[in-house]
Amino acid sequence: MSVLIKNGKVVTASESYIADVYVVGEKIAAIGKSLGVKADKVIDATDKLVLPGGIDPHVHLDMPFMGTYSSDDYETGTRAALHGGTTMVIDFILQTQGDSLANALKTWQGKSKGKAIGDYSYHMAVTDFNDDVAKEVVHMIKKEGISSFKTFMAYKGALMIDDGQMVALMKVVQKNGGLVTVHATNGDMIDTLIAKNKALGNRAPIYHYLSQPEVTEAEASARFTDMLHYTDCPGYIVHMTCEGALNAVRRATQRNQKVFVETCTQYLMLDASLYEQDFEGAKWVMSPPLREKKDQTALWSGINQGLVQVVGTDHCPFMWEQKQMGKDDFSKIPNGHPGIEHRMELLYSEGVRKGKISLTKFVEVTSTNASKIFGMYPKKGTIAIGSDADLVIFDPDKEHTISAKTHHMNCDYSAYEGKQVTGKTETVLLRGALAIEQGECKLKAGHGQFVARGKTSKVI
Ligand code: URP
Ligand code: ZN
Ligand code: ZN
Repeated sequence: MSVLIKNGKVVTASESYIADVYVVGEKIAAIGKSLGVKADKVIDATDKLVLPGGIDPHVHLDMPFMGTYSSDDYETGTRAALHGGTTMVIDFILQTQGDSLANALKTWQGKSKGKAIGDYSYHMAVTDFNDDVAKEVVHMIKKEGISSFKTFMAYKGALMIDDGQMVALMKVVQKNGGLVTVHATNGDMIDTLIAKNKALGNRAPIYHYLSQPEVTEAEASARFTDMLHYTDCPGYIVHMTCEGALNAVRRATQRNQKVFVETCTQYLMLDASLYEQDFEGAKWVMSPPLREKKDQTALWSGINQGLVQVVGTDHCPFMWEQKQMGKDDFSKIPNGHPGIEHRMELLYSEGVRKGKISLTKFVEVTSTNASKIFGMYPKKGTIAIGSDADLVIFDPDKEHTISAKTHHMNCDYSAYEGKQVTGKTETVLLRGALAIEQGECKLKAGHGQFVARGKTSKVI
């Protein structure tokens, strides 16, 4: 099948210009003015943006967590992502403590194969490091196309590793050309504050926020970057929320370290005042929690300074019924919220339309940088001849309102209910196939492919 997208504003991480884009099969075959080619399908993109398909490198689909499972699986989650212009996601495989990475990989292959509609890859979360796991890490990089390893400095007893394990993992990953990623919060400090609040009878969702103050994230981010420095390993901090943590990375970059930073849509746009209500605040119980307005300013500046390279979602939805698990105890509220669908539209509306970031920066942080950092550039994350034809035709002027009544995520509430947004995904191609048209998903479960990844690109 061939597709000709005519007369749109093609946007990459470095420039924007009016052109036609010609797709043959799964790849971009030509880009130019008034291309004189015949195509099976012609799309008029006049007054529209033509963007590289979004890449969300932080999602949790069908994930076992806190006694339940995140409510979007690979089918519903990647479908919702496509509706919002995200053509690829990177999910997290969780090693079970005491078990192998190989078994964990098999489990996640079972969740995704035949179900994913959009493309996907995996980070491997190492929750229990030893000599056997070290060998498996090498195997993952060399044979399985999994080059990023997630670590948790919190969630003790379930996911957390200690600093000794962290340093040992970094050494193996560094030697073999991978990347260590981290949930950087101080688990022991947080657990102490949770216990203290519970002993005082403080049970409401706001105590989730009060048990994870900024210092818990700033300290862990600094410790993580110091361990990276010690091992000469490249690293990536997921879901950064605050000024203190960003300053830790700023200091690390003064030592010329390779530390990449991801923030998420919600940390740029929502704040901790949402916890100042009764149990309703559970909708935004996530870790780390939402922060203050001054942190939003620091993060937007961090994006423009190049300190924050990626905006993901940490999509980890739970139904309202599941959130009730913590009705009488904030520490039992499943942590996470739905976000995969509206990342691109929210960031365009709040970032580009309101003049906080440029259009090219928008493409950088929603697609290109994730592709470069996670070793799949230029196959993914750009509009170039030979790249996968993952393309989004985006109406920059279309106004709409976000609501659980109309979203496609398998979650019965929205974290942004009633929010008015300017800019909407109109048509989406995934590897040249029509994925979204007129609000409908045209692809079936199983269309999504696993994307094997390699080393971080040298050009970031
Ligand atoms: O609250 C969150 N973030 N839930 C998902 C697990 C994690 O820490 O990313
Ligand atoms: Zn996390
Ligand atoms: Zn997460």
